[in-house]
Amino acid sequence: MDAAVAGNMKIFHTISGQRDVLREERRSGKKIGFVPTMGNLHEGHLQLVGLGKDSCDVVVASIFVNPLQFGLNEDWEKYPRTFDDDVKKLASAGCDYLFYPDEKEIYPNGMADQTRVVVPTMTDILCGASRPGHFEGVTTVVSKLLHIVQPDEAIFGIKDFQQLAVIRRMVEDLCIPVDIIGAPIARDYDGLALSSRNCYLTEEERSGVKILYETLCWCREEIVNGRRDFSHLEALTTEKIEKGGFRIDYVSIRNAKSLEPAAHDDMDITVLGAMYAMGARLIDNVSLNLNEV
Ligand code: PAF
Repeated sequence: MDAAVAGNMKIFHTISGQRDVLREERRSGKKIGFVPTMGNLHEGHLQLVGLGKDSCDVVVASIFVNPLQFGLNEDWEKYPRTFDDDVKKLASAGCDYLFYPDEKEIYPNGMADQTRVVVPTMTDILCGASRPGHFEGVTTVVSKLLHIVQPDEAIFGIKDFQQLAVIRRMVEDLCIPVDIIGAPIARDYDGLALSSRNCYLTEEERSGVKILYETLCWCREEIVNGRRDFSHLEALTTEKIEKGGFRIDYVSIRNAKSLEPAAHDDMDITVLGAMYAMGARLIDNVSLNLNEV
């Protein structure tokens, strides 16, 4: 066993060490919950651990800044690595195991030769359009992590709405025996969705970026009030955010399950947005079920 210990939490660096201990947990009938992360943990991640604790006997978190999901010009190198702090947070949130592998452990044959998992079509749109290869990196590493941990439940934040939809599709298509749970977005005092990348925002930007959430909420309200001119509404929402001084990547009104552009008679709708601040690309979304309003 290669475990280090922090409070009641055990930390494993190897796949075999993590598997051995989870095999024993499974053998004694324990239900296993899993929270995959890239570290630099915030309250949102700890809420995922809390949800895991509510419905499972044992919670495993992982920290792995997955190079395969970063584009060439993206922030893999500067992505904040805050391991000691993360360990303290996870241990005090009651996490039982932390899986903390290095790159060699996850990609022993090198990234170029790694077998890939590709969910087609729904990964080419929205964030996938501006981050080519990103979702292939996500689905590849998540499928590996699911095979390593073999959890009963895996918990992901709804903030990464497209990521969650893509992972659900992968699990369905590959018959991976795990329940995928979507957890509500944790927000800061002014509505900004918590994200490990919010630390890139300058002080000046920080006060303005709430416009993304505020404007998506405005758009949702318009739909609730009966508007169905979705393309026009997307353009108006975009304009409002741009007037706030930010560059838009996309604002899009979609069917919440398929991620296809929303049809006039769709009941389950999500409004998704991505915008650029100077130091960070921010994403957010709001959903509505027209049967319930
Ligand atoms: O959402 C994240 O933090 C990452 O995309 C994930 C799911 C841990 C895969 O690297």
